[in-house]
Amino acid sequence: MKKIFIFYGLLLILLTSLIVYQGCAKFDNTITSAPDIDTHPDGWANPSSSTFHGKYIVSKKLWNLNQCKACHAADYTGGSTGSSCLGCHNGSGGPENCRLCHGNSDHANPPKGVFGDTLTSYIGVGVHATHVNNPKYSAALHCSDCHAFGGFSDPNHIGDNPDGIAEITFGDLAKDTSLGGGIKPNPIWNRTNATCSSVYCHGTFKQGNTSASATWTDANSVKCGSCHGNPSTGNPTPQVVGVFTSPHFSFMTTTTCYICHGSVINGQGVFVDKSKHINGEVNY
Ligand code: HEC
Ligand code: HEC
Ligand code: HEC
Ligand code: HEC
Ligand code: HEC
Ligand code: HEC
Repeated sequence: MKKIFIFYGLLLILLTSLIVYQGCAKFDNTITSAPDIDTHPDGWANPSSSTFHGKYIVSKKLWNLNQCKACHAADYTGGSTGSSCLGCHNGSGGPENCRLCHGNSDHANPPKGVFGDTLTSYIGVGVHATHVNNPKYSAALHCSDCHAFGGFSDPNHIGDNPDGIAEITFGDLAKDTSLGGGIKPNPIWNRTNATCSSVYCHGTFKQGNTSASATWTDANSVKCGSCHGNPSTGNPTPQVVGVFTSPHFSFMTTTTCYICHGSVINGQGVFVDKSKHINGEVNY
């Protein structure tokens, strides 16, 4: 009789502890559903490793760095981890430095793009260089001529669900109407074709080639004559489908423009002051 009591007593204790254990295990599961990376893998700090944190951030599109900040503190000094980002990312802004995720040590714009692309044929790279770093026809453009940027944490920069695709928001120059003579640009970025059309800069003004479009991924899509004049001959003399209006005449060529536009271009047809070309006013 006594033995049976002990047996059932032990059985009861065993069952209760099993139930308690199950419950706790369930409860535990909910607290350990921490971020994706609660322990960093080997190679996390080694740029040549496949598990390097820079590669991880790009592959998971974690550029807003919210996940890192959750443990390493909002100011990246380390917080409870005791491991600061700023020891290695010691330039201005730490890991928010503008040249870390795109651009290079010299400037913030691509090449290179956010996935590491460097070819102009990649849409994120395109002809940034000819617009911003080494412009052929004008002064260097600003990021704000094509992007609205309100700081690293601006929701339009990376945002909560980054896709790695930059937003295009045209600035004032693209919409300039001062020499429109009634022609009003309506700038359009067509991502499917990678083209930019109805912009002041590429011809939407009086006597300009208002229907011209420029291909962002093809530097050769724009040349002398593309924005005003005749794109097939390369003669820039303003005309509207072969019709010239005084003071511009059909016999004019690049080496004639200086007679009236001498502050912009010289007798050899070479720009003497690019900042006066595509600046929103006719200099003559
Ligand atoms: C769940 C908390 C947590 C999250 C989230 C987290 N870390 Fe950490 N990290 C730690 C801890 C703790 C350490 C220090 C211990 C260690 O080295 O593993 C650390 C260390 C590091 C180190 C130093 C490693 C070394 O060997 O010097 C780097 C670099 C790092 N983290 C980068 C990141 C990045 C980038 C992110 C965001 C993608 C991130 N961490 C997200 C907890 C976290
Ligand atoms: C042990 C040094 C070290 C530490 C600590 C460190 N990083 Fe890095 N991180 C690097 C190096 C090196 C690169 C590669 C830089 C490059 O490609 O120019 C890099 C790249 C990155 C990138 C670029 C990703 C891209 O787009 O290619 C980000 C973002 C980044 N780190 C965030 C962090 C954050 C956030 C922390 C802290 C949680 C941190 N890093 C801590 C060394 C470090
Ligand atoms: C003439 C217009 C223009 C100017 C000026 C310009 N961008 Fe862009 N930018 C673009 C276009 C177009 C894209 C491609 C958008 C897309 O993929 O839909 C782009 C994409 C980007 C991307 C995403 C790269 C990727 O890999 O997808 C970054 C980052 C960027 N620009 C930064 C800058 C910065 C920084 C500046 C100023 C220093 C700048 N841009 C100036 C037109 C411009
Ligand atoms: C941690 C990575 C990272 C850093 C640091 C960073 N960017 Fe970006 N940036 C991106 C990504 C990713 C995009 C592509 C946009 C997207 O995914 O929505 C982008 C896009 C841009 C664009 C294109 C317009 C847009 O907002 O989409 C500009 C301009 C830009 N960044 C400027 C800057 C400047 C200026 C800084 C420094 C204050 C900076 N970025 C720092 C990752 C970064
Ligand atoms: C005889 C003087 C003269 C010569 C030579 C001349 N221009 Fe002009 N150009 C003007 C004047 C004046 C205006 C302003 C017209 C207006 O405001 O309506 C002008 C305006 C322009 C405009 C703005 C669009 C327009 O038609 O108003 C462009 C583009 C232009 N010129 C390009 C050229 C080029 C390219 C050459 C050389 C092939 C050239 N011009 C030669 C006098 C000249
Ligand atoms: C990307 C488009 C574009 C291209 C390419 C271009 N132009 Fe222009 N050009 C303009 C615009 C826009 C104006 C209107 C006035 C302004 O904003 O400067 C202009 C005006 C001019 C003017 C009038 C003076 C002035 O104030 O700018 C001359 C001269 C001129 N262009 C010569 C040339 C020559 C020569 C070439 C080829 C070597 C050329 N342009 C290629 C866009 C272009």
